[in-house]
Amino acid sequence: MLYITGMEPAANQHIAIVGCGPGAAEYLTAAAQSAAADAMVLAGAPRLLQLFPTFTGERLAVDAAIENTLTAIAQRVAAGARVTVLVTGDPGLCSLAQPILRRFGREACRIIPGVSSVQMACARLGLDWTAARIISAHAAMPAVDPRALADISPVLVLGGNRKSWPWILAAADHLASTHRLTLCRNLTLPDEELRELTPADLRALPPGAGSSVLVWVKRPEESNPIPMTTVNLVDR
Ligand SMILES: C[S@@+](CC[C@H](N)C(=O)[O-])C[C@H]1O[C@@H](n2cnc3c(N)ncnc32)[C@H](O)[C@@H]1O
Repeated sequence: MLYITGMEPAANQHIAIVGCGPGAAEYLTAAAQSAAADAMVLAGAPRLLQLFPTFTGERLAVDAAIENTLTAIAQRVAAGARVTVLVTGDPGLCSLAQPILRRFGREACRIIPGVSSVQMACARLGLDWTAARIISAHAAMPAVDPRALADISPVLVLGGNRKSWPWILAAADHLASTHRLTLCRNLTLPDEELRELTPADLRALPPGAGSSVLVWVKRPEESNPIPMTTVNLVDR
């Protein structure tokens, strides 16, 4: 059983996994900054390492090769270093946190939440996300039938991968009659963009559409082209 008390890391917590928010330094929490300041090694994507310009310890740039990253972290921990691993957004959403926890164990790790890109998209669009469905199309094609999403709102999809673009186009087609789609790209960054799109608009974009969250929000029933009561009658 794991017991955690107080704000300080336990003696055996050699690794901190820190959510750095969607990108802008102003969305870094004080807890994230203090975990970075406390580290001997700061590991993360180059873009995240740049958020800590005054850090003087070792900077370990990581890329998509997860096994190499885990090995590099293991070497530092074995040498007695405190390692802080930086992830985008929140560690609980599609991040390096789970591979690290599997490799090093829950007891060895402290997790510091951050503002997720999904939270940021909901804040920008003024959405309540209590009933949200979050789907990752970031690393691979989602194993979700878009037709199963017709009654859900909001639907938030992590985009950015060319390979899963066909799934996103199919979802846009299936949800076009019931939902509005907004592409939220590069949130909090200087080139942030929020665009409401039709399926045709989406097809005109370069596949992948960059670092983005696609948000489908169900329209009020009266503005749907096909009233739901009619659909029910046809189904019967
Ligand atoms: C590996 S996942 C990490 C998600 C992250 N843990 C989070 O909580 O946002 C990367 C995906 O997050 C989304 N993302 C991250 N930063 C973003 C930003 N600033 N604007 C829009 N989407 C972003 C994109 O869908 C990107 O492909």
